[in-house]
Amino acid sequence: MPDSAARIAVLISGQGRNLQALIEACADQRIPGRIVGVISNRADAQGLERARAAAIPTHTLSHTDYPSRDHFDAALTQALAALRPDFIVLAGFMRVLGDAFVHRHAGRLINIHPSLLPRHPGLHTHRRALEAGDTEHGATVHFVTERLDGGPAIIQGRVSVMPEDTEHTLSERVMNGVELRILPQTLRWLACATLRLNGDQVMFHGRALSTPLQLEALEDAFRS
Ligand code: GRF
Repeated sequence: MPDSAARIAVLISGQGRNLQALIEACADQRIPGRIVGVISNRADAQGLERARAAAIPTHTLSHTDYPSRDHFDAALTQALAALRPDFIVLAGFMRVLGDAFVHRHAGRLINIHPSLLPRHPGLHTHRRALEAGDTEHGATVHFVTERLDGGPAIIQGRVSVMPEDTEHTLSERVMNGVELRILPQTLRWLACATLRLNGDQVMFHGRALSTPLQLEALEDAFRS
């Protein structure tokens, strides 16, 4: 991997399926970058095993060891600084980060959220989509700002909600059909400098996006 390869840090709290997709996309060079470290706020996160299996350095910083959010964020900032990341990915990282942390990493910090933002920010998105009777659901990758799940959206992928869906079946469809594709794709664009944040505007191929990119439209364009 050349020295110019993007340095990617990934923050997780759980299973790490999105992390795994990034590991594989870096390995087969769909992303011209490498994951320089994985940080979890939970020692038992399964994603840590995935990182170790790929020989990626891991770090656990348990939020319960810190007296406040600011203290935790400061420790996280320090751990990240040691990794010198170009990009920081929140891939199922279940802690809200404070404004100072977000400002410091603005434009380099992205999150994947399992809903079609601005619908259903926050937790339990699949349950809420079912309760609301949504016929369409999905996931969004966005730049992180101080607004929880409210930063400029980059790309979304959509799935249909079926009448027989449960929270589990819907979450699996969103994960396998959408999340595992839009997150590596976003990192590829970032690493190739095709995508960047300018103020609160997402720039794609040098032009401001007025609405998030749509996975399906991109795949149609690719096929034609
Ligand atoms: C994903 O659905 C992600 O969108 C959400 O948390 C879940 C993490 O799953 N924020 P995994 O750890 O990548 O398997």
